[in-house]
Amino acid sequence: MRILVTGGSGMVGRYVVDELALSHQVENLDVKKPHRTDLPFLEIDLLNEPMVRKQVRGFDVVVHLAGIPHPLNDPPEKVFRTNALATFNLLEACAANGIRRFIFISSESVLGFAFYTARMWPGYLQIDEHHPLRPQDPYGLSKLACEQLCNGFSGRTGMQTICLRPPWIWVPEPNEIKMYKQLRSEYQKWSKNLWAYIHVYDVAKAVRQCVESPGLPVHDAFFVCAPDTWTEVESRSLAAEYFPETKTISPSLSGNFSFISTEKARKSFGFSATYSWRDIMRP
Ligand SMILES: NC(=O)c1ccc[n+]([C@@H]2O[C@H](COP(=O)([O-])OP(=O)(O)OC[C@H]3O[C@@H](n4cnc5c(N)ncnc54)[C@H](O)[C@@H]3O)[C@@H](O)[C@H]2O)c1
Repeated sequence: MRILVTGGSGMVGRYVVDELALSHQVENLDVKKPHRTDLPFLEIDLLNEPMVRKQVRGFDVVVHLAGIPHPLNDPPEKVFRTNALATFNLLEACAANGIRRFIFISSESVLGFAFYTARMWPGYLQIDEHHPLRPQDPYGLSKLACEQLCNGFSGRTGMQTICLRPPWIWVPEPNEIKMYKQLRSEYQKWSKNLWAYIHVYDVAKAVRQCVESPGLPVHDAFFVCAPDTWTEVESRSLAAEYFPETKTISPSLSGNFSFISTEKARKSFGFSATYSWRDIMRP
């Protein structure tokens, strides 16, 4: 298949490009220079709508990662505008040019926990795709708006739009590993993250599964994450201490279970995480 990956020069996108390039023809669209020079590169700003419409054509699948990946370094208006408008322009181009499948890297932030201001807690555990989505911050709001854009374009054109919702994506890179070690030593500060994570190799695998899977619906959203938390504290204890309001916990859960379920992704396209935070920490 001929696949366009947007944001393919970014921290996560480069792994997605590498995985897809093993069995497909891949092109990368980004404003930043790519990590490899053997693949076609479209240096395009997704906010430049005429250019996007002109260049994004002839692909079987578009995988969309480009954007601002959290709300912490940029003004709120820039985070929301970049993510929402880039996605809108890309969807317009895909719809106008007959692209049939669009895979959007959304985020677990659509739930609202990661960057909340007014405190909130899980309605029940494990969280699944029926859980309320209540983002308060510009990043989570932008991702939720983008999912809604996907839904709208699917409704208008029949283009398939699949939204993947990873939590914090862990990458095997030295600077990041230092940070993960630090945060594991202060896990008490990270309840907003629900101690959820996914190895970047598993994100790349989930994308490939969605690219190749024949049986997906016209529009849907899926959580993808590791089956455990990145702490070694029992998840029931974490819930009792940090989210005492959460009374409903599925009785079958034990040990370090993730607060987020990936059961829907497993049933729909066979996803289950292969890698753990332990693989990243190994020398
Ligand atoms: N990193 C995580 O833990 C995480 C978790 C969940 C979801 N995500 C999502 O995954 C995607 C990739 O995240 P990342 O961590 O690799 O971020 P990143 O910043 O490393 O990569 C994003 C890429 O998008 C490009 N980009 C930004 N604005 C653009 C524009 N207007 N036009 C074209 N290219 C543009 C950047 O140049 C960059 O290469 C994002 O959509 C992010 O929201 C990331």
